[in-house]
Amino acid sequence: MEKFYHIVTYGCQMNVHESEKIAGILSGLGYVGCDRIEDADIVVFNTCCIRENAENHAFGNIGMLKKLKQSKKDMIIAVGGCLTQQMGRAEDLHEKFPYVDIIFGTHNLHSLGDLICRKLKSRKAVIEIEESEGAVCEDDKPLRTSYPNAWVNIMYGCNNFCSYCIVPYVRGRERSRRSENIIREVRSLVDEGYKEITLLGQNVNSYRDDMSFPELLAKIADTDAKFRLRFMTSHPKDFSRELVEVMASYPNICHCLHLPVQSGSNAVLAAMNRRYTVEQYLEKVEYLRSRIPDCAITTDLIVGFPGETDADFEATCDLVGKVGFASAFTFVYSKRTGTKAASMPGQVPEEVSKERIIRLVDLVNSQTRELSKGYVGRTIEILCEDYDKKRGMYLGRDEYGRMGYFASNKDLVGSFVKIKVEQANGVSLTGSIAE
Ligand code: SAH
Ligand code: SF4
Ligand code: F3S
Repeated sequence: MEKFYHIVTYGCQMNVHESEKIAGILSGLGYVGCDRIEDADIVVFNTCCIRENAENHAFGNIGMLKKLKQSKKDMIIAVGGCLTQQMGRAEDLHEKFPYVDIIFGTHNLHSLGDLICRKLKSRKAVIEIEESEGAVCEDDKPLRTSYPNAWVNIMYGCNNFCSYCIVPYVRGRERSRRSENIIREVRSLVDEGYKEITLLGQNVNSYRDDMSFPELLAKIADTDAKFRLRFMTSHPKDFSRELVEVMASYPNICHCLHLPVQSGSNAVLAAMNRRYTVEQYLEKVEYLRSRIPDCAITTDLIVGFPGETDADFEATCDLVGKVGFASAFTFVYSKRTGTKAASMPGQVPEEVSKERIIRLVDLVNSQTRELSKGYVGRTIEILCEDYDKKRGMYLGRDEYGRMGYFASNKDLVGSFVKIKVEQANGVSLTGSIAE
């Protein structure tokens, strides 16, 4: 009889791709993916702990499975990812949700198959949290679910220890994959017909093997095949002119850069341990724009970091205006136990953070809307990614990451389509096929 799996993913792109690796492992064991949690023989929660609400979201959903598990005793519930890797959290989880069968850490992903076998032989919960990173896995067989886009890890972990961030504690130290394996993986994805490749790492700029990141990017881009190349994330302190030159030299590298600035105040940036100043950030942006004038820049911003004053917050708003980000992810600072910022004085009251985030979101949205308006009447090239049943339209993004919708009688997923933009609705655009 066929057995089904269902994976619930929280957190970043890295986690989304890791869920594809989990799907690869499960299908290797003979399981088949299913859409409804109720139909699954194994449910895997791939968790995130970057902010408190990410954790609460996962806790809520795991809690909701209690009833289902009572009526479906053979169903296996597994919880993995960043949340479980945090010191002491696996035990907390086990206590809170004793019906969870398997708890595994970020460094135990590749043993999931063994853990399932162990669970099938035992009534007790299987808990496996490895402290150390272990060797980099070069032969993952992800079950990719996002054609025509494919993600490729180039490195794992982070050494930066930004004072607010839990990632270095749950993902371990930086380690890079071998360049030859990355290049081979990208080449074969392009041969298989993938049209957009995103290279992934917490800080791709500190990639190190027999070549640097700009060299790796150039090698991957150096081909006549038509596909788009993106990468994330770039830490501003390591974002180099050499990388800008590579971006400017190869037509398949998107003119789009995610460069998280976090704050527009030097005092806050120093307390965050970001190791760049606002001036240095702006200087990099200016250089990028001088070489690639059309480059879209997106960012991440945090409000309410400990000690953030009204003046610091105003400085963030000023910076947003100065750079003209194409879009930005905005977050309220969330205290993470074990990080340096958690014990800093001057924790900002919730009401103040709330006011600030509302203003910042308004500001960012109004800029994004303005940029969208500028698109009306222009013809852009969209990589068609999906069909939106509700709207009855296909959708995709242009090289700058802007979402565009259009109607078509033909299935165009995976094709580059030129559309004439007729309408700008906030962040997204609507148009019709040109030519
Ligand atoms: N490695 C990437 C980002 C990883 S996390 C980088 O360095 O840019 C994604 C974003 O989450 C961060 O850029 C930051 O803006 C936000 N973030 C991280 N920890 C946070 C916290 N404790 N509270 C609020 N936002 C946080
Ligand atoms: Fe977190 Fe900073 Fe590392 Fe990004 S660079 S993952 S924000 S510690
Ligand atoms: Fe990503 Fe969340 Fe972990 S943002 S690295 S899944 S803590």
